[in-house]
Amino acid sequence: MNNPDDAPDSVRREVDSLREQIEFHNRQYHALDRPQIPDAEFDALLAKLEELETRYGLQSPDSPTRRVGSEPLPGFVEVRHETPMLSLEKAFSEEEFIQFETRASKRAGIEGAIEYCCEPKVDGVAVSLMYRNGVLERGATRGDGVNGEDITHNVRTIHDIPLRLEGSNLAGTRIEIRGEIFLGKKGFVALNERAREEGKTYINPRNTAAGAIRQLDSRNTARLPLRMFCYSTGLVEGFEPPETLSEVFDLFDEWGLKTNTGRQVCAGADECMEYCRRLLEKRPDLDYEIDGAVIKINRLNLQRELGQTARSPRWAIAWKFPAEEKSARVLAVDFQVGRMGTITPVARLEPVFVGGVTVANTSLHNMDEIERLGLCVGDTVIVRRAGDVIPQIVQVIEQGDERGAVVMPAACPACGSPVEPDGDIQYRCNAGLVCPAQRRRSVGHFASRAAMDIEGLGEKLIEQLVDSETVKNVADLYQLSAEELSAFERMGPKSAENLVSAIEKSKNTSLPRFLIALGIREVGDATAAALAAHFGDLEPLMNADAEALREVPDVGEIVARHIREFLDNSENLGLIAALRDAGVNWPVEAVRIQDSPPLAGQTFVLTGTLERMTRSEAKAKLVALGAKVAGSVSKRTDCVIAGENAGSKLTKAQDLEIRTLNEQEFIDFLEQHGEI
Ligand code: IVH
Repeated sequence: MNNPDDAPDSVRREVDSLREQIEFHNRQYHALDRPQIPDAEFDALLAKLEELETRYGLQSPDSPTRRVGSEPLPGFVEVRHETPMLSLEKAFSEEEFIQFETRASKRAGIEGAIEYCCEPKVDGVAVSLMYRNGVLERGATRGDGVNGEDITHNVRTIHDIPLRLEGSNLAGTRIEIRGEIFLGKKGFVALNERAREEGKTYINPRNTAAGAIRQLDSRNTARLPLRMFCYSTGLVEGFEPPETLSEVFDLFDEWGLKTNTGRQVCAGADECMEYCRRLLEKRPDLDYEIDGAVIKINRLNLQRELGQTARSPRWAIAWKFPAEEKSARVLAVDFQVGRMGTITPVARLEPVFVGGVTVANTSLHNMDEIERLGLCVGDTVIVRRAGDVIPQIVQVIEQGDERGAVVMPAACPACGSPVEPDGDIQYRCNAGLVCPAQRRRSVGHFASRAAMDIEGLGEKLIEQLVDSETVKNVADLYQLSAEELSAFERMGPKSAENLVSAIEKSKNTSLPRFLIALGIREVGDATAAALAAHFGDLEPLMNADAEALREVPDVGEIVARHIREFLDNSENLGLIAALRDAGVNWPVEAVRIQDSPPLAGQTFVLTGTLERMTRSEAKAKLVALGAKVAGSVSKRTDCVIAGENAGSKLTKAQDLEIRTLNEQEFIDFLEQHGEI
């Protein structure tokens, strides 16, 4: 029954209501940061909707089920932009802006002040969104401005992008919206925290966003907190645009598109320059990176009159902020040991003031990055600090007279244990908590905000506690007294007491926090939450074998192995016991019940002609029961449904001794499972 025309009205109503509820909660969560229901309940609504859509063939391009991503595409399809996506002329000084204004005034015969709409120039990736009758039909990259790539599957996963515009008068329209997709600074930092657990580093938000929208597998895009600000239209058909750009922005807001609230209408050059000055001051406080302002003539009829050159419109200009780049000499490259033993090269620089801070150290991430830069000690490099993102070395500009090649040390700089390669680009000290650097880091991680949240336990104090062997493992923290603490540098009796009570307070925690605190490889906040929701308490989790662990959403083979390895280690078990003895406790979580459908994990193949239902109806019924339906028979096939005139697939199934069902048997089977 997956012909949508056959869907009963009650099901349609339920589908509509589920879509509305899900969109409502999506907005609460993603746009307003005000979740109203637990994640598990949200997931249940989505699962229900997905099931009804599949069972009754009610899939629709604007359904929120499209937001989670889907199977990878085989390749990208080229898109020809109906109107080219231009770039902008740049101005670096007031003089250059005045020249731009004078040219525009002369060309359009304007006398007096021009009205502009000024906006922050967000450092992201330009995209085009085509809406037909208000429904998102296609997303495309800018490409070379004439041809881009179809990225519809990816833009659908971005919560800032409405799948349907909230307008009542959009029937018969085609409206192309253009804007910038980007990663916010907070989102980028959080993403890197998660990535670090897997030994990965994203170097900057812009490149990460650009990479994310060009994924063939949209599930990878869906994992990133991408955002979008809309700033102009391309093709517009069947719709009368307003008179000014500022009104276009208001219209975008009404339609549910995201716009930058930092925009402002300015009369004349002076106001524009004042806007740019203030924007530069506000730059560090914005949650996204900007590299300037875009100043556009506000009246659309003037824009049309001025037109464009081959490369850029004559009615807009990019005001570029001074580059936040400085040169500095690399004095040394040291190697730092991470919590899990990963060894990271760090450049020590001649201190430089760049982007509002003094930079003396920057991570070089890994040996591949050093090779890519061709960097040696003594070289002069360009250091860039964009917004408040970690400073980075962009390139070598001058080689030093005496160049010291950077080599990975053979022994761990903290404990002297051998350094071993781990995968293609990482190196690791495998000494674990015997290594003082790893011990310090693991205490820091244990106390961090997402884990046990112990306020007042800073890096310097941890270093003293660990190096004096007062704290040999994290359980020792719970034995510290205020007297003992006040003996350490910079610890007055008051701060010592405060710290003891913060440590005491941390005993009442939650299971996800405790799991994060344990510092199991690749178990960050999302995985810890999923484990807690699945098992409810620590005992069932400790008793779960790798297979049982893999039933948890997001836990794959590698994560399951890391968890098992951690829990099979007697030292770790001793640590968990010591922490519980010290009084660390958490409430048991409500277990999220996930009835797995009867055919979950099984692969079916359909072949031949079925008389009493179409192939796609049969497929939908199997999918509704949790099965995967494949196109060809292999050893991994569990069952073949063979209709009339079944050919080679049936023969192959018989050869491989795979279970086969004829149509009547299939119908009986569906009846047994309540699908007919
Ligand atoms: S308007 C024809 N507005 O800057 C005018 N662009 O250098 C099209 N950008 O490709 C651009 N913020 O990626 C415009 N508020 C804004 C923008 C903006 C960022 C980017 C955009 C464009 C590039 C031009």
